[in-house]
Amino acid sequence: MSAAGHQRGSFSSNWGFLLAAIGSAIGLGNIWRFSYMTYTNGGGAFLIPYVVALFSAGIPLLILEYGLGHREQASAPLAFAKVNRRTEWLGWWMPLFVMFGIMFYYQVVIGWCANFLIFSFNLAWGPDTQDFFLNTFLGVTKSPAELGGIRPAILIATGLMWLITWFITYQEVHRGIERACRIFMPVLVVTTLILVGWGLTLPGAGDGLSYYLKPEWGKLLDPKVWIAAYGQIFFTLSISFGIMIAYASYLPRKTDLVRNAWITSLTNCIYSFLAGFAVFAVVGYLAGVKGVPVDQVIKSGPTLAFVVFPEAISRLPFLREVFGIFFFSALVIAGLTSGVSIVEALTCSAIDKFRWPRKWVVTGLCVLGFMGSIIFTTGGGLYWLDIVDHFLNQYGLVMAGLLECLFVGYILKAGVLRKHINESTQRKMNQGWDFMIKYLTPSILLIMLVRSVTTELAKGYGGYSTASLLSVGGSWLLATLAAAVILSLYPWEPSRLRSDHVPGSDELFR
Ligand code: TRP
Repeated sequence: MSAAGHQRGSFSSNWGFLLAAIGSAIGLGNIWRFSYMTYTNGGGAFLIPYVVALFSAGIPLLILEYGLGHREQASAPLAFAKVNRRTEWLGWWMPLFVMFGIMFYYQVVIGWCANFLIFSFNLAWGPDTQDFFLNTFLGVTKSPAELGGIRPAILIATGLMWLITWFITYQEVHRGIERACRIFMPVLVVTTLILVGWGLTLPGAGDGLSYYLKPEWGKLLDPKVWIAAYGQIFFTLSISFGIMIAYASYLPRKTDLVRNAWITSLTNCIYSFLAGFAVFAVVGYLAGVKGVPVDQVIKSGPTLAFVVFPEAISRLPFLREVFGIFFFSALVIAGLTSGVSIVEALTCSAIDKFRWPRKWVVTGLCVLGFMGSIIFTTGGGLYWLDIVDHFLNQYGLVMAGLLECLFVGYILKAGVLRKHINESTQRKMNQGWDFMIKYLTPSILLIMLVRSVTTELAKGYGGYSTASLLSVGGSWLLATLAAAVILSLYPWEPSRLRSDHVPGSDELFR
């Protein structure tokens, strides 16, 4: 595939790239996180900040990441190092805190889904699904300090998810990830459409949908709602994970970066919107069967998928098991295609810098990843998940996104990157994009950051002691930051940092 001297992998076509990028974007976050966020943040009215966030930060930043990866033909660390050697650490930090943080528990949650997929065959969760999930299945302890032993079923499923992730990523990108996404993404879309269609025919679905879509305009005045919308857009588009930079580095030279960013982000957001129909139709149905208002049925994030859904599935009029199997398979597939993308982002970075063989890097990462996941498979795992998730999303992603905008905006210069991007596309961007990258998006992110810190200091988070928050969450951020700085200090082979060695053309591609 690759020309002599360039062992950098590549997607076999633009279409393969799109499937992989969409596979990364569509994940667990699209199915239950989006639905729950929409519900708690004003129903239909949430869609307004969500769409504003998509256009004012999501798409511009996705274009930025595609542009950077494609221009430098490099993973995040190398791309940043080429911009300025002093910014390289950010390129390491982004994939590091996602891989050695979010990904640890993300795989565990996919493991829960795999367990529930099996439970669906005989509706093993029984009548009290909340007790089943929290006590029988997770064995939740009283506090994060009390781990309470590993849950074997969760450990095995998590190990299996790491094994599948390893199997997909250890092969070159066009054979591993691209091929997996070519199979998985159509299956995911069909499964989701079946779930939506099925959900809509259930009695009471309309009540659920009116909760989903009925706008509560007052919520638009609440800054929390806006912050939630921006946070959701970052997470859902896999922005500031270093993933999209790595994926774009595998693109053919000739491609349309702007079009690709639009396709990826719109497909992702439309998918979320659609999945919301299935979720809320089922919730409406359950409310009807139980004879309670819809808002009493909905619980917080994780319980929506693992408590409310199982209960609703048990009460479906027909083919209950099949519905459960479809729902949890969709979650497993959506999760796996996101998980592989972060392993790839870090693999690509390590290969760029150290030239280690891919198979070794992937094997090492998956083994470390599995070991890191173990703590989340214990009885205290749910608390750890909550704290790590809070810190990495509220601080890690926001800070990384902010720095990314500033580095590109002021050090590389937004106009320089825009010129490269515009050469690829008919949909030319003007200085409005520079404005977003230099001023608008960083200001919004800064406001988010300041607000998070002030509420954290004033109120703490989730009732945890400040000591456990800072020791678990804060040290997580600092440890990955330290690792990023150390990795960036290691010297490059000088030829790697030259930007002019980029092969001029399509020689790499058919
Ligand atoms: N975009 C994904 C979602 O909405 C999140 C995600 C993508 C992710 N890649 C990841 C999470 C890697 C953890 C690790 O669910």
